[in-house]
Amino acid sequence: MSRRKDPHWVAARQAPPRADQNPKMLRHQLPAEHSLHRATVSGIRALRLSVWPPESQLPGSLALDPARTIDWRSARQARLPLGVRWQRQAEARFQILFPLGPEARCLGLGERYEGLQRRGRVHTLFATDDHVHIESVDPLYKSIGWLVVADGPEHYGILLDSPAPQRWDLDSRRVGKATITLLTRRGWQLTLLGPASMPELVAAMTTLTGRAALPPRWSLGHCQSRWSYASESAVRQIAGQFRARRIPCDSICLDIDYMKDYRIFTIDRSRFRGFESMVQDLARDGMRLVPICDPGVVRSANDATYGDGRRHDVFCRRSNGSVFVGKVWAGPSVLPDFAREEVRAWWGRRLRLLTSKGVAGIWADMNEPALFDHKRPLALDSDELPPEDQQLFVQQALEGTVGHFELHNAYGMQMARACWESLEQSRPNERPFVLTRSTYTGGQRYGAVWLGDNMSWFEHLRRSIPMLLSAGLSGLAFSGVDVGGFGSDCDAELLARWYQLGIFYPYFRNHCAMGGRAQEPWAYGPKIERAVRRLIETRYRLIPYLEGLFAEHRESGAPLMRPLFWHYPDDPRLSEVDDQFLLGPDLLVAPILYRGTTTRTMVLPKGRWYPFDGGPALSGGRLHQVSFDLEAVPAFVRHGAILPLVDPAAHTGLLDGAPLTFQVYGSRARGRFWQDDGQSRSYEQGAFNDWALNYQQGKLAIRARHLGYAPQKRRYFVAAEGQRRAVSLPG
Ligand code: GLC
Repeated sequence: MSRRKDPHWVAARQAPPRADQNPKMLRHQLPAEHSLHRATVSGIRALRLSVWPPESQLPGSLALDPARTIDWRSARQARLPLGVRWQRQAEARFQILFPLGPEARCLGLGERYEGLQRRGRVHTLFATDDHVHIESVDPLYKSIGWLVVADGPEHYGILLDSPAPQRWDLDSRRVGKATITLLTRRGWQLTLLGPASMPELVAAMTTLTGRAALPPRWSLGHCQSRWSYASESAVRQIAGQFRARRIPCDSICLDIDYMKDYRIFTIDRSRFRGFESMVQDLARDGMRLVPICDPGVVRSANDATYGDGRRHDVFCRRSNGSVFVGKVWAGPSVLPDFAREEVRAWWGRRLRLLTSKGVAGIWADMNEPALFDHKRPLALDSDELPPEDQQLFVQQALEGTVGHFELHNAYGMQMARACWESLEQSRPNERPFVLTRSTYTGGQRYGAVWLGDNMSWFEHLRRSIPMLLSAGLSGLAFSGVDVGGFGSDCDAELLARWYQLGIFYPYFRNHCAMGGRAQEPWAYGPKIERAVRRLIETRYRLIPYLEGLFAEHRESGAPLMRPLFWHYPDDPRLSEVDDQFLLGPDLLVAPILYRGTTTRTMVLPKGRWYPFDGGPALSGGRLHQVSFDLEAVPAFVRHGAILPLVDPAAHTGLLDGAPLTFQVYGSRARGRFWQDDGQSRSYEQGAFNDWALNYQQGKLAIRARHLGYAPQKRRYFVAAEGQRRAVSLPG
């Protein structure tokens, strides 16, 4: 579409509006510098507005992927898409305004506790540890200033690059206006992308902010966690249970009780006497350990990390120069300033105290940062950024000292980055694994996320779908929620229903809070255990398909979990569906989400869809009533797809040699099979195979799109039209 014909490219002002147009704004207006640049980002038109107070400068970006270079050209005269206007209203308050047409939908903004639609509410971006996720909760742990405005077929993306506190009022008063209020004394950048389709916008957004690396295969397996398996024998016992009961599992998380008095980088030897041998024994059996790390370092003269940190001057200081102290698990604690490169490097060196013991990855928690004595350090309705001495502490941005709130939303991301870079350095040819609770735009570059402290409620089972879909539309492709629910008590039915959905989460972990009723797969007797075993086995069968989706994410930024409209934008009935989703292009998941029911209504997009568990195809383009008992896999496969399905095994380390079946759905079908070693970074140098699968007239053609990896010997089969026979890969 040409810009001239595009109604969204209205003549917007680069400078704030004149008094006669909006006297109220002008009364508050202060001067600001700005510049405009344009570029084509993965084929899409992009316009970047940079704004900074004259007394400051444009800060370096934490959101943008430094590994990508974009050819930005200065634009002298420009109209801003969507009718965007902006103004500096007060010393530390900017506003960005744009109209919303009556039909415009707003999507994105990362993790919010609601459905897909963002319009009609105010969304605060100020990373907060709020563990009661209910309708009114705002904000949560992650802060992603990325919104897609979908008005008919035209979609625009808005990326606000600033880690400072901000409120996105997306037409809460239903008058067709959106207002972003940003509280900062620093500069910021707003990138406007479009018009384009949703997949194109996410491709462009992740071209700018980066994409998730291929995860180690073990991290796609089942993870068992609980606060806490608090002794070596408890951990060994849990690992043993999985093997004895023949339930696949790849990792166990160690929550805060492995530490001595919750002190970071310590191990409580009274409970974990043989920590190192435990790690090794379990690793031999394909069970990896992922310990938790919180940013707080106890303020204690005899704590080694505290002493070392003081010597290296890594801790955040108040504006008066004294080291800031806040309360977390270990008591009064200090916080590393992860915004500083040398502090991330210091953290990385300390982290080796753990990684040298062979743990497989790092779980970064409490990194909003959460402080028990400062639960809400900034009132949500604040209209001014407080002075530096009231922002808890100061941090070192690239351009100099700034109040903490200016960088608050990126604190967790910079901690995850420190962990990620430490793993990269200490294990250069191994894929790092970091799981973080808080993150910022571009956080996908530093590992996986989970959505924090949910509850063992059906409501939270349901909500996990739009929350994870939105995270994916905002760049966070590797994500999950605690299966079974973290807080309160799980029960038999909820656990089985949650596994029916959880096996399709990109990150698949069962985690439960202290004091909550046990929720390991066997906690509710043999019937549920059998159901959950079968479901987890299904997850393992799907791992080759999931790996292909991760490869696709790297190529195009596409999330693994996709709303139905991602692939079917022309069907308006699908635009609001958020109790079903697509996992990649070929699987549609429609789980049971209400207690006491076994039946639900679902909509199938056009085409025909095969029940994953077998049976005749259902026709798409209409609603269906479907029933799933507790053992069923609540998914449908697209007619015309080929899924690579591997025989399940106790852990992913055994999958390389396990038989693999190309399961064909229909008499003509296509698929993809991605193959690599699942653990090293050699794929970055081309050590992978990418097979194109094409089935027609009773024959499967397997063609190499890329060949660079010599796989282990294994048997391959094709299953099509009721028959299964052996095949071999060419070459
Ligand atoms: C936080 C985390 C949770 C963890 C707990 C104890 O609440 O979100 O996952 O179990 O802290 O470390």
